[in-house]
This record gives sequence, C-alpha cells and structure tokens, in this order.
Amino acid sequence: MALESRLLDGSFACEVVELGLWELLEDGTIERLRDLWAHHPVLVFRRQALSEQELARFSAYFGPLERVVRTEWASPAVPEIGLISNLKDGQARPIGGLGDGELQWHSDQSYIMNPATGAMLYAVELPPEGGTTSWVDLSGGYTALPDRLKDLVDGRHGVFSYVKRLAGYQGVDRVISAEAKRKTPPVFHPLAHTHPVTGRRALYLDSTTTIGIEGMDDATGSALLEEIYGIATRSEFVYRHDWQVGDVVMWDNGMTMHRREPFDPAARRLMKRTTIFLSHERHIVPDGRLATEETMA
Ligand code: SIN
Repeated sequence: MALESRLLDGSFACEVVELGLWELLEDGTIERLRDLWAHHPVLVFRRQALSEQELARFSAYFGPLERVVRTEWASPAVPEIGLISNLKDGQARPIGGLGDGELQWHSDQSYIMNPATGAMLYAVELPPEGGTTSWVDLSGGYTALPDRLKDLVDGRHGVFSYVKRLAGYQGVDRVISAEAKRKTPPVFHPLAHTHPVTGRRALYLDSTTTIGIEGMDDATGSALLEEIYGIATRSEFVYRHDWQVGDVVMWDNGMTMHRREPFDPAARRLMKRTTIFLSHERHIVPDGRLATEETMA
C-alpha cells in the first residue's frame, strides 16, 4: 500500500494521512514508514482510536519497547505504555508523570548510556488551551552553526545528568526510587553525529540534562552550550504541534529536542507514550559511556 504523506507547515515534520494504526500493517507499509521516519524525525498521524495494546504493537514495528526508569508512570495494563498526565486517582495520587508544568527543550533518555531514542505520544484528553508540544530539528541547528562552533562540537562529548533533569520537575516527579537512581549515573555522549541514512550531521543536545562539556571548565562549557542552544532552537527549525484528541506523534530523539508549554492545573490532560530502541542502521543512536569523577575532572 502506498503511503500518503505531506510536510506540515513547511517544517521538517511530516503527516501520514489515511492510515489506521489500530490495523495490522503489511510488511511493505511498515518498511515505508521506517524509511519515512529515517528521513523525517517527526511523524504525525491524526484521528486514531487506539487501545494500549494497539499503541504498543504499532510502536514495536520500529524496535523493541523500553520500560522506562520511572516505573511508577507505567500503565497498570501494559507496562511498556507510560502515562504522561496531571490526573490523579481516587486517593489523590498521580496516575502518571510530568504534571502540568512547562518542560524545557530536552531529548528523552539522554541521561541513559544506551538511550532508547524513539518515542510516541498519543493524545487521549487535552486541556482547552496550553500543553502544546514543539520539536526542533537538530540537523538544521548543526548546519546553522558558524564553523568556529562546528569545530568546537565535532568530536566532543557533553555530560548528561538525570539529577539536573529532576531539578526541573514539579512535586513528586522529583523523587525517584533507589533503583532508578542506580540506573541513571551521569554519562557522556557525543555532541554531534552523522545520520546513517541521510548523511546529515545533527547536534545531540538536552538543555535539561547537559551539565558540561568534556575537557572544558564549567563556565566555558556552559557559555558554549548557551550559544549553541540559541542557534539550534531558532524558530525556523521548530515544528509546534497543536494537539487534537486522537493524534499520535512519533519522534526521533537522536535528531530532535522537544518542549511542552504549561497548562491550567485544573484542566485534564492524558497522553499515552511508548519508548523504542531504534536501530543504528536507520537512526542516530548515541553510544554513551559512564562519566565518572576521574573522567569528568
Ligand atoms: C515529554 O516530554 O515526553 C512529554 C511531552 C508532552 O507532555 O507533551
């Protein structure tokens, strides 16, 4: 079956039309979707009606599903599904994570040595306003860097820490289990990569976890990162998604960062998400290493 797709708002994001993700897809369709995703790091599907099993099955066409370190955000029915929500259960306990606050530009799992870089969000309930999510294409950002900055990032590693990410969260989201802490020591990742399919160079950034640059003192590393974020997040590289109930957005965290605008805590928002180990053959997948006291000094 041929896939019908179109670029959204002249951006790098692409909408796939007329495809019901609840169906069992033919091999040829899955292959075309994999190819499309390798070329367009954000894919949008509207008007979906999915059970958690169907969302997990569709996600698994692209790689093994990860159960994220925040096990308390997992759906009780399908543990590979994470609940991103401000809703609470009958005992006033959050049913998922990430509440209603603003989320700054970030890349999921950047604080993991071998991150699962694919992600999908499925919109189930939405606030009347706010809660909009935007993605930025980090290959555009790399191309826009002056040669001086390209020379500085090429071959260099950033230090990514979940402790910094936690500090930006609200309330109970800041508290993690001993097991989650053990699984999230600081790690190094290269700051730039070459895409295996398109050959394009892209930055690998996360403003919510990057605490420095290997071999640079804190002040120099922070100043350099701020300068790079300023260029990489220019509006010309951003796709802003106005959610409708039933939307599925899938994105490649190896090529993008995303951010979410806050919304009224009294409004309801429920998103279901999956996290996918993507293949090195089709996607940028950073290979990290542990950032120990000695290696960071
Ligand atoms: C996320 O950053 O994974 C969640 C984004 C959103 O809630 O829109």
